[in-house]
Amino acid sequence: MKPIGVFDSGVGGLTVVAALQRRLPEESILYLGDTARLPYGSKSPDTVTRYTERNLGFLEGRGVKAVVVACNTASALALPRLRPRLPTWGVVEPGAEAAVARSRSGRIGVIATESTVRSDAYGAAIRRRRPDAEVLSCACPLFVPLVEEGWLDDEVVETVARRYTAPLADAGIDTMVLGCTHYPLLRPVLARVMGPGVELVDSAETTAEAVASGLAADRLLVRPPADPAHHLCVTDASAPFARIADLILGPQHRPLELVDV
Ligand code: DGL
Repeated sequence: MKPIGVFDSGVGGLTVVAALQRRLPEESILYLGDTARLPYGSKSPDTVTRYTERNLGFLEGRGVKAVVVACNTASALALPRLRPRLPTWGVVEPGAEAAVARSRSGRIGVIATESTVRSDAYGAAIRRRRPDAEVLSCACPLFVPLVEEGWLDDEVVETVARRYTAPLADAGIDTMVLGCTHYPLLRPVLARVMGPGVELVDSAETTAEAVASGLAADRLLVRPPADPAHHLCVTDASAPFARIADLILGPQHRPLELVDV
Protein backbone atom coordinates (compact mmCIF):
# COMPACT_ATOMS: atom_id res chain seq x y z
CA MET A 1 0.00 0.00 0.00
CA LYS A 2 1.88 3.07 -1.22
CA PRO A 3 1.49 6.28 0.78
CA ILE A 4 0.76 9.79 -0.48
CA GLY A 5 3.89 11.93 -0.06
CA VAL A 6 3.44 15.42 1.35
CA PHE A 7 6.19 17.96 1.84
CA ASP A 8 6.57 21.41 3.26
CA SER A 9 9.49 23.54 4.33
CA GLY A 10 8.51 22.78 7.92
CA VAL A 11 5.59 21.92 10.13
CA GLY A 12 2.84 24.11 8.63
CA GLY A 13 2.09 21.63 5.84
CA LEU A 14 0.50 19.42 8.46
CA THR A 15 -2.59 21.64 8.00
CA VAL A 16 -2.84 20.01 4.56
CA VAL A 17 -2.19 16.56 6.09
CA ALA A 18 -5.09 17.14 8.51
CA ALA A 19 -7.38 17.98 5.57
CA LEU A 20 -6.16 14.91 3.64
CA GLN A 21 -6.82 12.68 6.65
CA ARG A 22 -10.37 14.02 6.89
CA ARG A 23 -11.06 13.65 3.15
CA LEU A 24 -9.15 10.40 2.54
CA PRO A 25 -9.10 8.58 5.89
CA GLU A 26 -8.04 5.26 4.32
CA GLU A 27 -4.84 6.66 2.80
CA SER A 28 -1.38 6.42 4.33
CA ILE A 29 0.74 9.58 4.36
CA LEU A 30 4.50 10.07 4.34
CA TYR A 31 5.33 13.64 5.39
CA LEU A 32 8.61 15.44 4.89
CA GLY A 33 9.26 18.71 6.74
CA ASP A 34 12.43 20.32 5.42
CA THR A 35 13.09 21.98 8.76
CA ALA A 36 16.86 22.22 8.17
CA ARG A 37 16.35 24.61 5.26
CA LEU A 38 13.31 26.56 6.46
CA PRO A 39 12.36 29.29 5.68
CA TYR A 40 11.73 28.96 1.96
CA GLY A 41 9.65 32.14 2.00
CA SER A 42 12.60 34.52 1.74
CA LYS A 43 14.64 32.50 -0.77
CA SER A 44 15.09 32.84 -4.53
CA PRO A 45 13.16 30.79 -7.12
CA ASP A 46 16.36 28.91 -8.06
CA THR A 47 17.06 27.84 -4.48
CA VAL A 48 13.46 26.89 -3.73
CA THR A 49 13.35 24.89 -6.98
CA ARG A 50 16.55 23.03 -6.06
CA TYR A 51 15.18 22.17 -2.60
CA THR A 52 11.85 21.11 -4.09
CA GLU A 53 13.55 18.80 -6.61
CA ARG A 54 15.43 17.09 -3.79
CA ASN A 55 12.30 16.71 -1.67
CA LEU A 56 10.41 15.21 -4.62
CA GLY A 57 13.33 12.82 -5.21
CA PHE A 58 13.35 11.80 -1.54
CA LEU A 59 9.61 11.04 -1.51
CA GLU A 60 9.83 9.19 -4.80
CA GLY A 61 12.71 7.11 -3.40
CA ARG A 62 10.50 6.18 -0.45
CA GLY A 63 7.92 4.74 -2.87
CA VAL A 64 5.05 7.24 -2.62
CA LYS A 65 2.34 7.03 -5.29
CA ALA A 66 1.69 10.78 -5.56
CA VAL A 67 2.96 14.01 -4.05
CA VAL A 68 1.29 17.01 -2.48
CA VAL A 69 3.49 20.10 -2.30
CA ALA A 70 1.92 21.61 0.81
CA CYS A 71 4.35 24.54 0.87
CA ASN A 72 2.88 27.63 -0.79
CA THR A 73 6.31 29.04 -1.62
CA ALA A 74 7.46 25.80 -3.31
CA SER A 75 4.09 25.51 -5.11
CA ALA A 76 4.40 29.10 -6.35
CA LEU A 77 8.07 29.22 -7.30
CA ALA A 78 9.19 25.68 -8.08
CA LEU A 79 6.26 23.63 -9.36
CA PRO A 80 5.76 25.63 -12.58
CA ARG A 81 9.45 25.00 -13.42
CA LEU A 82 9.48 21.25 -12.75
CA ARG A 83 8.10 18.18 -14.45
CA PRO A 84 7.47 15.72 -11.62
CA ARG A 85 7.31 12.07 -12.61
CA LEU A 86 4.50 11.24 -10.19
CA PRO A 87 1.04 12.82 -10.02
CA THR A 88 1.73 16.04 -8.07
CA TRP A 89 -0.48 18.76 -6.66
CA GLY A 90 0.47 22.15 -5.29
CA VAL A 91 -1.66 24.37 -3.07
CA VAL A 92 -1.79 27.55 -5.17
CA GLU A 93 -4.30 26.43 -7.82
CA PRO A 94 -6.77 24.94 -5.28
CA GLY A 95 -6.42 28.07 -3.11
CA ALA A 96 -7.12 30.33 -6.09
CA GLU A 97 -10.10 28.16 -7.01
CA ALA A 98 -11.55 28.50 -3.52
CA ALA A 99 -11.00 32.27 -3.46
CA VAL A 100 -12.75 32.81 -6.80
CA ALA A 101 -15.65 30.61 -5.69
CA ARG A 102 -16.14 32.62 -2.49
CA SER A 103 -15.58 36.20 -3.67
CA ARG A 104 -18.56 38.19 -4.84
CA SER A 105 -16.86 41.50 -5.63
CA GLY A 106 -13.73 39.99 -7.22
CA ARG A 107 -11.59 42.10 -4.91
CA ILE A 108 -9.35 39.45 -3.36
CA GLY A 109 -6.49 39.82 -0.90
CA VAL A 110 -3.59 37.37 -0.67
CA ILE A 111 -1.27 37.18 2.32
CA ALA A 112 1.82 35.01 1.91
CA THR A 113 5.60 34.88 2.24
CA GLU A 114 7.76 37.47 0.48
CA SER A 115 8.80 35.04 -2.28
CA THR A 116 5.23 33.89 -2.94
CA VAL A 117 4.02 37.48 -3.16
CA ARG A 118 6.89 38.43 -5.48
CA SER A 119 6.05 35.50 -7.78
CA ASP A 120 2.42 36.70 -8.18
CA ALA A 121 1.47 33.02 -8.55
CA TYR A 122 -1.81 33.50 -6.67
CA GLY A 123 -2.64 36.67 -8.62
CA ALA A 124 -2.06 34.87 -11.93
CA ALA A 125 -4.05 31.78 -10.86
CA ILE A 126 -6.96 33.95 -9.67
CA ARG A 127 -7.02 36.13 -12.82
CA ARG A 128 -6.93 33.01 -15.02
CA ARG A 129 -10.22 32.00 -13.44
CA ARG A 130 -11.69 35.50 -13.17
CA PRO A 131 -9.98 38.00 -15.49
CA ASP A 132 -11.68 41.03 -13.93
CA ALA A 133 -10.47 40.13 -10.41
CA GLU A 134 -8.52 42.74 -8.50
CA VAL A 135 -5.84 40.95 -6.49
CA LEU A 136 -3.97 42.74 -3.70
CA SER A 137 -1.07 40.84 -2.18
CA CYS A 138 0.80 41.47 1.01
CA ALA A 139 3.86 39.72 2.46
CA CYS A 140 3.68 39.00 6.19
CA PRO A 141 7.19 37.76 7.08
CA LEU A 142 6.72 38.02 10.85
CA PHE A 143 3.81 35.57 10.93
CA VAL A 144 5.91 32.39 10.49
CA PRO A 145 8.25 33.10 13.45
CA LEU A 146 5.28 34.17 15.59
CA VAL A 147 3.49 30.88 14.90
CA GLU A 148 6.69 28.90 15.52
CA GLU A 149 6.97 30.74 18.84
CA GLY A 150 3.46 29.51 19.65
CA TRP A 151 2.01 33.05 19.69
CA LEU A 152 -1.23 32.43 17.90
CA ASP A 153 -3.82 34.68 19.43
CA ASP A 154 -2.62 37.56 21.60
CA GLU A 155 -2.24 41.32 21.38
CA VAL A 156 1.21 41.17 19.76
CA VAL A 157 -0.05 39.03 16.87
CA GLU A 158 -3.14 41.20 16.57
CA THR A 159 -1.08 44.40 16.31
CA VAL A 160 1.19 42.84 13.67
CA ALA A 161 -1.82 41.48 11.75
CA ARG A 162 -3.59 44.87 11.78
CA ARG A 163 -0.51 46.59 10.42
CA TYR A 164 0.09 44.04 7.64
CA THR A 165 -3.52 43.80 6.52
CA ALA A 166 -4.47 47.51 6.74
CA PRO A 167 -3.94 48.13 2.99
CA LEU A 168 -6.13 45.11 2.15
CA ALA A 169 -8.87 46.21 4.55
CA ASP A 170 -8.70 49.79 3.18
CA ALA A 171 -9.03 48.45 -0.37
CA GLY A 172 -12.32 46.75 0.58
CA ILE A 173 -11.46 43.14 -0.23
CA ASP A 174 -14.24 40.61 0.47
CA THR A 175 -12.01 37.50 0.47
CA MET A 176 -8.52 36.89 1.78
CA VAL A 177 -6.36 33.91 0.85
CA LEU A 178 -4.16 32.57 3.64
CA GLY A 179 -1.36 31.78 1.19
CA CYS A 180 1.14 30.25 3.60
CA THR A 181 1.02 26.99 5.52
CA HIS A 182 1.33 28.67 8.93
CA TYR A 183 -1.44 31.22 8.52
CA PRO A 184 -4.45 28.93 9.15
CA LEU A 185 -3.19 28.78 12.74
CA LEU A 186 -3.76 32.55 12.95
CA ARG A 187 -7.29 32.28 11.62
CA PRO A 188 -9.08 33.49 14.81
CA VAL A 189 -6.97 36.63 15.04
CA LEU A 190 -7.16 37.30 11.30
CA ALA A 191 -10.95 36.84 11.35
CA ARG A 192 -11.20 39.38 14.16
CA VAL A 193 -8.90 41.87 12.44
CA MET A 194 -10.59 41.64 9.03
CA GLY A 195 -14.14 41.50 10.40
CA PRO A 196 -17.18 39.53 9.24
CA GLY A 197 -17.23 41.14 5.77
CA VAL A 198 -14.06 39.30 4.69
CA GLU A 199 -14.04 35.55 4.02
CA LEU A 200 -10.80 33.78 4.90
CA VAL A 201 -9.80 31.05 2.48
CA ASP A 202 -7.07 28.48 2.97
CA SER A 203 -6.12 25.91 0.43
CA ALA A 204 -6.00 22.82 2.67
CA GLU A 205 -9.57 21.60 2.07
CA THR A 206 -9.62 22.39 -1.65
CA THR A 207 -6.22 20.74 -2.12
CA ALA A 208 -7.50 17.59 -0.38
CA GLU A 209 -10.49 17.65 -2.72
CA ALA A 210 -8.23 18.00 -5.79
CA VAL A 211 -6.05 15.12 -4.58
CA ALA A 212 -9.10 12.93 -3.98
CA SER A 213 -10.45 13.44 -7.49
CA GLY A 214 -6.99 13.17 -9.07
CA LEU A 215 -6.23 9.86 -7.33
CA ALA A 216 -9.67 8.54 -8.25
CA ALA A 217 -9.15 9.50 -11.92
CA ASP A 218 -5.73 7.82 -11.95
CA ARG A 219 -7.14 4.76 -10.15
CA LEU A 220 -4.65 5.28 -7.36
CA LEU A 221 -7.03 5.35 -4.40
CA VAL A 222 -6.41 2.66 -1.82
CA ARG A 223 -8.98 -0.11 -1.80
CA PRO A 224 -10.73 -0.46 1.58
CA PRO A 225 -10.47 -2.04 4.04
CA ALA A 226 -7.13 -0.31 4.58
CA ASP A 227 -4.94 0.10 7.60
CA PRO A 228 -3.54 3.62 7.11
CA ALA A 229 -0.12 4.42 8.53
CA HIS A 230 1.29 7.92 8.83
CA HIS A 231 4.98 8.64 9.03
CA LEU A 232 6.74 11.97 9.63
CA CYS A 233 10.27 12.79 8.47
CA VAL A 234 12.20 15.99 9.19
CA THR A 235 15.59 17.22 8.04
CA ASP A 236 16.27 18.80 11.44
CA ALA A 237 14.70 17.68 14.71
CA SER A 238 13.67 21.06 16.10
CA ALA A 239 11.51 21.65 19.18
CA PRO A 240 8.78 23.80 17.52
CA PHE A 241 7.93 20.98 15.10
CA ALA A 242 6.54 18.66 17.77
CA ARG A 243 4.71 21.50 19.55
CA ILE A 244 2.99 22.78 16.43
CA ALA A 245 2.31 19.27 15.12
CA ASP A 246 0.34 18.70 18.34
CA LEU A 247 -1.65 21.89 17.74
CA ILE A 248 -2.55 20.89 14.17
CA LEU A 249 -3.04 17.12 14.45
CA GLY A 250 -3.85 16.81 18.15
CA PRO A 251 -1.48 15.70 20.91
CA GLN A 252 -0.14 12.16 20.64
CA HIS A 253 3.18 10.37 20.62
CA ARG A 254 4.52 11.06 17.14
CA PRO A 255 7.92 9.61 16.28
CA LEU A 256 9.96 11.80 13.94
CA GLU A 257 12.50 10.26 11.58
CA LEU A 258 15.51 12.47 10.98
CA VAL A 259 16.48 12.28 7.29
CA ASP A 260 18.98 13.84 4.92
CA VAL A 261 17.63 14.72 1.50
N1 DGL B 1 5.81 26.70 4.14
C1 DGL B 1 6.03 28.07 3.73
C2 DGL B 1 4.88 28.52 2.82
O1 DGL B 1 3.80 27.98 2.86
C3 DGL B 1 6.13 29.01 4.92
C4 DGL B 1 7.38 28.83 5.74
C5 DGL B 1 8.64 29.16 4.98
O2 DGL B 1 8.91 30.35 4.71
O3 DGL B 1 9.36 28.21 4.63
O4 DGL B 1 5.04 29.42 2.06
